[in-house]
Amino acid sequence: MELIEAIKSRKSIRAYKPTPIPKAILAQILEIATNAPSAMNTQPWKFNVLGSKILEELKEALQEHFLEGAELHPDFGLSPPPSGVYRNRQVDLAKSLFQLLDIAREDKGKRTEWTVKAFRFFDAPNVIIISMDEEISSYSYIFSLGAISETIALVAVDFGLGTCIEGNWILYPEVIRQITGIPKSQKIVAGIAIGYPDWDFPANKLRSTREPLSNIATWHGI
Ligand SMILES: Cc1cc2nc3c(=O)[nH]c(=O)nc-3n(C[C@H](O)[C@H](O)[C@H](O)COP(=O)(O)O)c2cc1C
Repeated sequence: MELIEAIKSRKSIRAYKPTPIPKAILAQILEIATNAPSAMNTQPWKFNVLGSKILEELKEALQEHFLEGAELHPDFGLSPPPSGVYRNRQVDLAKSLFQLLDIAREDKGKRTEWTVKAFRFFDAPNVIIISMDEEISSYSYIFSLGAISETIALVAVDFGLGTCIEGNWILYPEVIRQITGIPKSQKIVAGIAIGYPDWDFPANKLRSTREPLSNIATWHGI
């Protein structure tokens, strides 16, 4: 697949077929993705790849934590909610998603059900947890983890797979550690749900909007 075509066709997938991805394919995707750039070539990423029983156990535990209203303590602290134009974009996304899912704004039950789905990695058959050594968990290296995350998502497209980079479930790192054994010396940064997309699921029809370049680019000397 052409690179530009892959970049344009990648989008977040929020429902998957149950078919697990063969380990050899997951390994190939990760190996290719490690060609991503990183600050000073430090390659600060670590992957924990989950499937089958252990992933199901994690989904159940995260769901339980969320429904109990357990306290949130992500490794990097809580990000402040977006405001201004950023909040507007967040609201636009939520509105489009809920419209496709036929979930009314006031329907708390269905909204909670949807959040549970998110904590269950949208029932993806596999999940890649991305972490980094605590001692290098600062700007350049976190930025590098962003680079590899997008590269994984793009390589996945070439294999006919869908992904959703997710930040919500890292709110409960202690649950992830308890089940996967990821040590405290590893900061949990993000996770990628990965699997064969269920294209019939309404939310997968979403094509999120983008600001026109004229709103975000300033040209100097050009
Ligand atoms: C750091 C990060 C965290 C994200 N967390 C979530 C999440 O918790 N739940 C979710 O449904 N999507 C999540 N997303 C996906 C974004 O909502 C999505 O990338 C954005 O709306 C643009 O849509 P697209 O990926 O379909 O192009 C996250 C993306 C990033 C980069």
